[in-house]
Amino acid sequence: MTHHDSSIPSTTESGAPRESDAHSLSVGADGPLLLHDVALVQKLARFDRERVPERSPHAKGSGAFGEFVVTQDVSAFTKADFLQPGRTSRVLTRFSTVAGELGSPDTWRDVRGFSVRFYTEEGNFDMVGNNTPVFFLRDPMKFPDFIHSQKRLPDSGLRSNNMQWDFWTLVPETAHQVAYLMGDRGLPKSWRHMNGYSSHTYMWVNAEGERFWVMYHFHTDQGVENITNEEAAKLAGEDADAHRRDLFDAITRGEFPSWTLSAQIMPYEDAKKYRFNPFDLTKTWSKKDYPLREVGRFTLNENPTNHFAEIEQAAFSPSNMVPGTGVSPDKMLLARVFSYPDAQRNRVGTNYNQLPVNAPISPMNSYDKEGQMQYHHSGAAPVYSPNSYSRAYQDEQITVDNGWESDGEMVRAAYTLHPEDDDFGQAHTLVREVYSEEQRQRIVEPVIGSLLGGVEEPVLSRVFQYWTSIDQEVGAAIEAGYHAAK
Ligand code: HEM
Repeated sequence: MTHHDSSIPSTTESGAPRESDAHSLSVGADGPLLLHDVALVQKLARFDRERVPERSPHAKGSGAFGEFVVTQDVSAFTKADFLQPGRTSRVLTRFSTVAGELGSPDTWRDVRGFSVRFYTEEGNFDMVGNNTPVFFLRDPMKFPDFIHSQKRLPDSGLRSNNMQWDFWTLVPETAHQVAYLMGDRGLPKSWRHMNGYSSHTYMWVNAEGERFWVMYHFHTDQGVENITNEEAAKLAGEDADAHRRDLFDAITRGEFPSWTLSAQIMPYEDAKKYRFNPFDLTKTWSKKDYPLREVGRFTLNENPTNHFAEIEQAAFSPSNMVPGTGVSPDKMLLARVFSYPDAQRNRVGTNYNQLPVNAPISPMNSYDKEGQMQYHHSGAAPVYSPNSYSRAYQDEQITVDNGWESDGEMVRAAYTLHPEDDDFGQAHTLVREVYSEEQRQRIVEPVIGSLLGGVEEPVLSRVFQYWTSIDQEVGAAIEAGYHAAK
């Protein structure tokens, strides 16, 4: 049944009542339309502009609001206000696939995005991570090429297994993440059933100014569950929005999913001599070396009331940091802090931070001004700092407490290698020591499936070599299985 309240008329955007929401203005009932039908022209012009560009990667996703509660005392490692004992913060999460466009199936094999925003008293803190603890690359110069290779061919507009494997096998630092992607994690049962990771190393600073390196882990309290290739393919056909629906429906039913946040914490000086370069995004730190330490838990208990306003216009960014936190010398991370706000100025608009979903709950006093859709103005207050007219500005002498020492010639070079650094070592450990026998076997089928889907020489031989470098036995099984199926 529809409810129609005729006491509140619909209006034009300038507020005048509309004459009709059903009929255009025409010359006689059957006659031509008129350009001065403001209501029709405005309605069509606004419709023509409804879409904003989708996110360049991670276009398809959804999320929900909730609450983060600190459960353990980590004040010895960070002075961040929202991480102090007893604090609670409102959070917004967004989960996504990476390569698919808006409307693409939630269950295609892919890495999943895992974004969490904490609305804190010191400004927004965003952790824009994935459901894997590593990434395909360690230098941002390769990121656009990587995303291009996962998206679509220039001529046919089709996705291409050949293009994906061509890139991955020519860039062997991808091996660790590919071993995750082709494993169970590539097909989570739902967003509620997957973990999230910062993947990068970040910094924490405590009240005494001591610095630590930190990796964030969000473990699902629902338990990790994944689906099979067959289930994923079936769902992709039957319900492209399966994961979006699962989260929304669970919250509507009052089944509120939660995640426990833990951190691996490395003393500042350890980074120089750790056996892996801790700033290389293709590597994890062994939990034996740096055990997980619980921090808190967030629970999602509130669905968006408007998907466009609260999810599509949400602008998560690793550049949203608060005192007591910071970035690290990870080159990928350093590039991301530029790329996200830049993308969002284009995607949402220059003043995207003024939208309710992006606005901090703490007071904002920025000398950045004007531009399209500026809403919060300084009024008559000074528009420059320093000034003599009582608008607050920051002292020039403030110290940087979340930095690190750095010196050297400018170069374009790979990271300095630490004793155990190479492209395939941790990928091998994952496949041979972390995966069970069944999990190891489950890698073989999707890889063969994707190779049969149009991978040609010389890429094909390189794929066999790549997998043999990760794990002799898995490589041999993939090669034999491919030839048997061909
Ligand atoms: C140099 C490397 C990278 C660059 C240049 C980059 C760039 C971008 C850009 C431009 C967006 C769209 C932002 C928007 O329009 O709102 C995006 C989205 C995203 N990226 Fe990255 N990215 C990089 C690496 C990574 C890594 C390593 C991770 C995970 C650890 C990651 C996770 C995400 C997620 C989760 C989103 C979606 C954010 C949301 O939920 O709205 N990206 N990335």
